[in-house]
Amino acid sequence: MHVPTLISRKREGEELSAREIGLLVASYAKGEVPDYQMSAFAMAVFFKGMTPAEIAALTRAMMESGDCFVYPPDHPPVVDKHSTGGIGDKVSLILAPLVACAGCWVPMVSGRGLGITGGTLDKLEAIPGFNIHLSLAAAVAQLQKTGVVMMGQTDRFCPADKKLYALRDVTGTVPSIALITASIMSKKLAETLDRLVLDVKYGNGAFMQTRADAEALAVSMIAVGREMGVTVDAVLNPMNEPLGRAVGNSLEVIESLETLEGGGPADLREITLDLAEKIAGVSRADLEKLLDDGSARRRFNQLVAAQGGDPADLPRLAEIHKAPIIREVIASAGGVVVQVNAGLVGQAALQLGAGRARATDGVDFAVGFDQFVKCGEPIHAGQAVCRIHARTAVDFDMAEAMIEKAVKISAH
Ligand code: URA
Repeated sequence: MHVPTLISRKREGEELSAREIGLLVASYAKGEVPDYQMSAFAMAVFFKGMTPAEIAALTRAMMESGDCFVYPPDHPPVVDKHSTGGIGDKVSLILAPLVACAGCWVPMVSGRGLGITGGTLDKLEAIPGFNIHLSLAAAVAQLQKTGVVMMGQTDRFCPADKKLYALRDVTGTVPSIALITASIMSKKLAETLDRLVLDVKYGNGAFMQTRADAEALAVSMIAVGREMGVTVDAVLNPMNEPLGRAVGNSLEVIESLETLEGGGPADLREITLDLAEKIAGVSRADLEKLLDDGSARRRFNQLVAAQGGDPADLPRLAEIHKAPIIREVIASAGGVVVQVNAGLVGQAALQLGAGRARATDGVDFAVGFDQFVKCGEPIHAGQAVCRIHARTAVDFDMAEAMIEKAVKISAH
């Protein structure tokens, strides 16, 4: 394999063979291909794209760069959901235990938040003691006991993707449908799934700004999944206002607990059921029952206990992570809420410290927003638009100014 030739051929828009892509990825994972060549390759892919066969080869090569989940014979259906990320998207915390209650195994390997979108791992770590660092063997042992595990990518899980994603992050090559497909699907396929549902977001609070782009990404991910023998379904969801009423790590866990107890915001419950229905193998009515009768909430407790947390801490999260300043943003005029710009809310949450600008940054579990108004709701002058949870008065003022821009109210 002559790497400069592969890069040049891709730059000219040629299709590479599965063998060439496999060799390139395996050599990169072993450190035999340097970052500068791989970034040139990623940029060539960014501009020229890849054929479905090339994307499948890239996905397989990244998946095979590490270990995959191995289950005992006669295991129940193994299923998962992946969201391309949004603001206030805490669906995983509800869906994973819910679908486990329906008799499936859910080995959910998630990521951290980066930029304006939050990450499931950061939310889970808002639960004191919750350990997201599990080996694949420990994860499978936990599945046998509780049917659900929520963890981070280990060093032996798709290491080629881990390396390439970090490189893409600093070389302007993240927003490529081919590279996003291979990155996401390699990790999901390494979970050795029977069924997968994808929640592909579009709008000002998402990776993909337009529905057409989201559709193209969904088509690409479905094609790769099917090629590799997994039943993949996708739901396209707008991300123009935050999902639910809370944004920020501990605040989103609290809202997830409400939803797991049969309450919570209507949009969050609906989207969770829409996605769960595609993979759970039981009816929507059965899933609703599992939320309303406390089964899903009890399963979440089991999950927390299995991974080192204390379920008794869950009702106390608001106290455990109490921001020094918790104050309302007040509407100056009444009318109907016509916009809660998710992208701006995400940026405000990031500035408050709920998210990270660089992969190595930490996050503040306490800060963010809750009690957000939703589009279409009536509001009167003097009523709260949301509450801000801030570390300092300066942070509060900054977030308040951003929320005033994010929320638009039209007179009746
Ligand atoms: N999430 C991933 O894991 N990879 C991407 O490329 C984009 C989002």
